[in-house]
Amino acid sequence: MNWIIATNTKYSSMIQDGSIHIYFWVMFYPFCIGWKATLLLDEGGSPALYMNHTSGTWGFSEKRMKVYSVDQWSLSPDDVLDELPIDPNRNNYVRRVHKCIFSCVSPTPFTSEVRLIAVSEDVLENLLDLAVSVGATDEFLQFVSGRDFTGWRPLAHRYGGHQFGVWAGQLGDGRAHLVGTYINRFGERWELQLKGSGRTPYSRDGDGRAVLRSSVREFLCSEAMHHLGIPTSRAASLVVSDDAVWRDQFYNGNLRKERGAMILRVAKSWFRIGSLEILARSGEFELLRNLADFIITNHFPSINSKDPNRTLAFFSIVVSETASLVALWMSVGFAHGVCNTDNFSLLSITIDYGPFGFMESYDADYVPNTSDDEGRYRIGNQANAAMFNLNKLRLALNPLLDARQQQLATQVLEGFPGLYYQRFTELFRSKLGMLGENDLDLTLISSFLDLMASAKADFTMSFRQLSEISLDELQSLTIPQEYWALQDISRQNNFPAWVDAYILRLKRNLEDTDAKRRRRMMLINPRYILRNWMAESAVRKAESNDFSEVHLLQKTLGRPFHTQKMAEEAGYSQRTPAWARHLKVSCSS
Ligand SMILES: *[C@@H]1O[C@H](CO)[C@@H](O)[C@H](O)[C@H]1NC(C)=O
Ligand SMILES: *[C@@H]1O[C@H](CO)[C@@H](O)[C@H](O)[C@H]1NC(C)=O
Ligand SMILES: *[C@@H]1O[C@H](CO)[C@@H](O)[C@H](O)[C@H]1NC(C)=O
Ligand SMILES: *[C@@H]1O[C@H](CO)[C@@H](O)[C@H](O)[C@H]1NC(C)=O
Repeated sequence: MNWIIATNTKYSSMIQDGSIHIYFWVMFYPFCIGWKATLLLDEGGSPALYMNHTSGTWGFSEKRMKVYSVDQWSLSPDDVLDELPIDPNRNNYVRRVHKCIFSCVSPTPFTSEVRLIAVSEDVLENLLDLAVSVGATDEFLQFVSGRDFTGWRPLAHRYGGHQFGVWAGQLGDGRAHLVGTYINRFGERWELQLKGSGRTPYSRDGDGRAVLRSSVREFLCSEAMHHLGIPTSRAASLVVSDDAVWRDQFYNGNLRKERGAMILRVAKSWFRIGSLEILARSGEFELLRNLADFIITNHFPSINSKDPNRTLAFFSIVVSETASLVALWMSVGFAHGVCNTDNFSLLSITIDYGPFGFMESYDADYVPNTSDDEGRYRIGNQANAAMFNLNKLRLALNPLLDARQQQLATQVLEGFPGLYYQRFTELFRSKLGMLGENDLDLTLISSFLDLMASAKADFTMSFRQLSEISLDELQSLTIPQEYWALQDISRQNNFPAWVDAYILRLKRNLEDTDAKRRRRMMLINPRYILRNWMAESAVRKAESNDFSEVHLLQKTLGRPFHTQKMAEEAGYSQRTPAWARHLKVSCSS
């Protein structure tokens, strides 16, 4: 292996940290195969050589490194979104909008002093090419709190949706602005959206703002979901102002003054089922065709954009990816809380974190939104809600399908429950550490869930502790104190029988060892999730400008599968503290 060290002049101006600007070239000459690869690392040690997924070749990005100053960074000057029509009316007042996908409208910056609460280092560095030090600069703070920035072209998206089962007409980005897109050094295109950034033509009765508590929850949860391996929008930054925002937190007539906050959210695309629905509903079929084709061309590279069956292929991918997403939510006990068609992404990523919650005691009827009295969006009903939404998508796409294709789309949708159960079973089989497949797996899974339900045992910690305990300890049925959730379950009469069946199933894999099983299970069963009490405790401190717990949670949830000292000291893997047993989720946000 040869090491060739070459200095680089072209990009040295981007680096302002005083370090030496060196590229390390590492050459391999494996003579047996006869190929040569060159690995180029940037000064942070990240590969500057990347895979171009469009062309399937390796290449160097124009911008090879992280940027150390906001001055050297800008949003992409032109973007594919420019193909889509914008409302000619540029005035910012609430109205019905027709024949367009976006309205052009600027964020309203805060009038008071703005404080940066947190940034996601991962989003800054790996999605936006920004060194973490940039996050601390004033220019960055200005940008993420809604002030004009190089290359930004703020837009609010027009969409509609079915809310709680009923067609709600025009909705749209009522307090969010898509400020532009950024193509990073890996060639990935990201859409940047501010949330809480002021009124738009779609604000309806709202003030366009978001309060601190809901913003802290969204910031922490969307990043946590990413680190749990679940497709989601990301959050780059969280700021708070002293601007007053009035909210009736529990819908009980008590208005309270709160502070306005803003998040910079990032996703590959923000289009929702409701984006297409509104066009179908209002008979704008040409625009419907254009938007569907736009989404297929730009976000579904596996579909040939000339294929007459492309819309059907698109629907079929959305159906299977949504099945997979909901199964993933279930695998970590996540209840989204507002599974409306306008809050469901066409790219099947988790978006719109509102009255979400992680289930603590296992309960299929767990409802995170305390005002959702009928329990429409209870955790155990999410797959049904998703299927309802996909059916609305199917109806919206019907004008683009011929009779035969419409029939096929119906069949595709009928496949949803099967896809969901398949994915659900796969995930829970892995959660139990079982390799291969066996007819009795589903029984083992469901009887473990039943045990949890009757013991009201903690969902997350039951799986985690099952991952940590040795089979010898489990088999002896005397569960040590530290495995408190398993202890709860072990008091059930059926527990010994379940343990026997479980151990028998594990022993079917002769190659497997207990150490391997535990390692495997600990990488899928998190030790830390964002419990309501944890979010609430961080919010209470943040209200008085103490952001330490936001930071601790951010750090903890960035490595949810690893036991961490500070998280343990904070009690994050313990039972919910007494003060928080009857906590209600704040719904108005
Ligand atoms: C990736 O490859 C495609 C097709 O060759 C090309 O058009 C595109 O510019 C490449 N992307 C980057 C970031 O180099
Ligand atoms: C479109 O799908 C129909 C039904 O499966 C099939 O008969 C037809 O050959 C497909 N068309 C193309 C171009 O693939
Ligand atoms: C769901 O979408 C609607 C319509 O845009 C919006 O009013 C609501 O706030 C969204 N829910 C969340 C949790 O963001
Ligand atoms: C909670 O549920 C109620 C009742 O269905 C609904 O009106 C409200 O909008 C929901 N809250 C949120 C934030 O979605």
